[in-house]
Amino acid sequence: MMQIEQPTKIALDVKNLYKSFGDKAVHRGVSFQLLEGEILGLFGGSGTGKSVILRSIIGLEHPDQGEIIFDHTNIVGLSESRLIRIRTQIGYVFQNGALFDSLTVEENLAYPLREHTALSDREIQKKVNRMLELIDMKGSNHLFPNELSGGMQKRAGLARAMILEPKVILFDEPTAGLDPVNTKRLLDNIKNLKKTGITGIFVTHDIPSAFEIADRIAILYQGKIQVIDTTENIKKSKDPLVQSFIQGASH
Ligand SMILES: Nc1ncnc2c1ncn2[C@@H]1O[C@H](COP(=O)(O)OP(=O)(O)OP(=O)(O)O)[C@@H](O)[C@H]1O
Ligand SMILES: [Mg+2]
Repeated sequence: MMQIEQPTKIALDVKNLYKSFGDKAVHRGVSFQLLEGEILGLFGGSGTGKSVILRSIIGLEHPDQGEIIFDHTNIVGLSESRLIRIRTQIGYVFQNGALFDSLTVEENLAYPLREHTALSDREIQKKVNRMLELIDMKGSNHLFPNELSGGMQKRAGLARAMILEPKVILFDEPTAGLDPVNTKRLLDNIKNLKKTGITGIFVTHDIPSAFEIADRIAILYQGKIQVIDTTENIKKSKDPLVQSFIQGASH
């Protein structure tokens, strides 16, 4: 495995998050840092609060306590109008792609550009086509989401989340439900994007994919990040909690 020089700038600083739904405490002091240029794999059993972490980062969920520092700003407690700006800088790849069904692939990808930039139609078209090429979907411009395979929908969702060139990208189980061929294509797409310097969090139950793509891995268990370390160290860790995750016997 190639040795990667550790970047030191912090893209996201998540500090001591608490979140309960009713009397169910989900986060009980979640803290971790996402470093610039890295992909951080996030593991945790079903219902441990991984998606709630991602949703809190883009302000769709409101932690009861704690801070999320992005670009010198605490995202927790920001007004909706300021969150809209944050969401142009933090991309979110939803589990199902979350494309607009009534729009074509091209219109789906162009949408964020029309909403948030002053680019001309020609520039938008160029960007959309370049992105489609990156995700192996050249020529799919005029297809509707229901005309795409599951794998293509996911890749189109990835493209839409990336089109504004966000500083940080959040992947919520991007490989869930994909067969091995489509999983590989999606991972290859993400690896290509990684060469452009993306920073991201990759939530997954798919341990082999995380091992392939993540520089570091964090494990969420009982409301906290219990372990965070390089992928190399996680792979050879003797820690029983780490072992139970990587052997697929999560929790
Ligand atoms: N809006 C909500 N209202 C009430 N409870 C919620 C809400 N959102 C999440 N929860 C609860 O919070 C807990 C964590 O949910 P979350 O979706 O973050 O889990 P997860 O780790 O992403 O699980 P999975 O791996 O299954 O996707 C779950 O018990 C869930 O039921
Ligand atoms: Mg989830």
